[in-house]
Amino acid sequence: MRSDDFVFPRNFKEEKPLAVRAEGAYIFDEQGKRYIDGCSGALISSIGHGVSEVTDAISAQLKTLSFAHPSRWRNMAVEEAAEEIAEITPGDLNHVWFVSGGSEAIESAVKMARQFFLERDGSASPRHLVIARWNSYHGSTLGTMAIGGSMPRRRFFSPMFKEHPKIETHYCYRCPYGLEYPGCGVRCAHDLEREIKRIGAQYVAAFMAEPVVGSTVGALNPPDEYWPIIREICDRYDVLLIADEVMTGFGRTGKAFAVDHWNVVPDIIAAAKAMAAGYIPTGGIFVSERIVDTFRKGSGAFMHGHTYNGNPISGAATAATVRYMKKHRLFDNAALMGDLLASGMEELPASVPIVGQVRGLGLMRGVELVADRQSRTPFPKSAKAAAAVTSECMKRGLIVYPGGGMVDGVDGDNFMVAPPLNITEEQVKEIMSILQESLMAASAALAKPL
Ligand SMILES: Cc1ncc(COP(=O)(O)O)c(C=O)c1O
Repeated sequence: MRSDDFVFPRNFKEEKPLAVRAEGAYIFDEQGKRYIDGCSGALISSIGHGVSEVTDAISAQLKTLSFAHPSRWRNMAVEEAAEEIAEITPGDLNHVWFVSGGSEAIESAVKMARQFFLERDGSASPRHLVIARWNSYHGSTLGTMAIGGSMPRRRFFSPMFKEHPKIETHYCYRCPYGLEYPGCGVRCAHDLEREIKRIGAQYVAAFMAEPVVGSTVGALNPPDEYWPIIREICDRYDVLLIADEVMTGFGRTGKAFAVDHWNVVPDIIAAAKAMAAGYIPTGGIFVSERIVDTFRKGSGAFMHGHTYNGNPISGAATAATVRYMKKHRLFDNAALMGDLLASGMEELPASVPIVGQVRGLGLMRGVELVADRQSRTPFPKSAKAAAAVTSECMKRGLIVYPGGGMVDGVDGDNFMVAPPLNITEEQVKEIMSILQESLMAASAALAKPL
């Protein structure tokens, strides 16, 4: 039977192996071939596959209470999950609104920001715009795509949504202003103030960004001053700060949340992916006391909701996942193994001509691929450089996460390496050895005339 006989696949023109089993950091296909999950799916499977503490918790929950609609019922699984999360969120982000995934989390954060101003300032409040950044990804619904700035993903659908304003990202390797850090004075962060003034602060509800840019640019970490400057500007103009930690949250960068690296407390954090580590679809937004208080003293009700928001199965999976992360100190391991992975990856440019830059934080590392390192010339899109690397890695049993289009909306290739947080030293070495060999093979193939 062919894979597209009944299923509408992601791509009718791509053959994919059949995943049949997974254990720890490995996935096995129908031939029994083993692949090391070097990107945790898409930075999701952060505790690895087949953890019985989580599968047992889900199974026990299924047997006691599988569903009770949130408009009429509370449930203990969700309350326990919220408590586990509140223990690790920064500052006073102590309340969790549960959803089923990253796009829903972002939609919820944006609607909450808008309603916060209506509750606080009255129904005539004009604050509704969300300033975000070019080269960002915040989800694939129409609402989140209007905020995100990933051109390849937006192009087909942009006539369908109401645009939100955008500023440049801290893409230092290709600084949009032609400046160099630190002499630049982190202009890209200060640009937020210029944009707020240009629009009029009275129309701006929030600024949203990924603390380390994930799928669009490939683990792009900011200069250390960036987030503190952004926080200060948001405070000065009464604009809410929303951190999209859908990829970075729950230990990926070596701290519970990536904003912890700069001691910045946003007003809302949006998370998903690693929150239940791929065992069940889930997500959430973690909300500050100031916002909670405003809703409590105002109408009391968030004008928003989905059927599965706050469902007990996701609650049980989330509570068990977060407990497992804490018990095994996985955020510390991510920092330790992240350093080891980085030191290996930083040696790649010496032997692989197509490696332009290695970047990232903790166990979220990225490589930008270039046709010419000296001039930083990207490959043309038609060369499919990131796909070539991914396929060489797959042949050798390593899964990495490719991305592209970040140079000018068309060209630009990158990939991320982001294994489960409980990866061992041996497994990091295994990843590095396959990666090195695969990159050499891809480099040789890409050097041939097209
Ligand atoms: C930073 C970021 N935000 C939001 C999303 C959307 O999440 P989902 O695919 O769960 O809807 C993603 C997904 O990759 C993401 O990386």
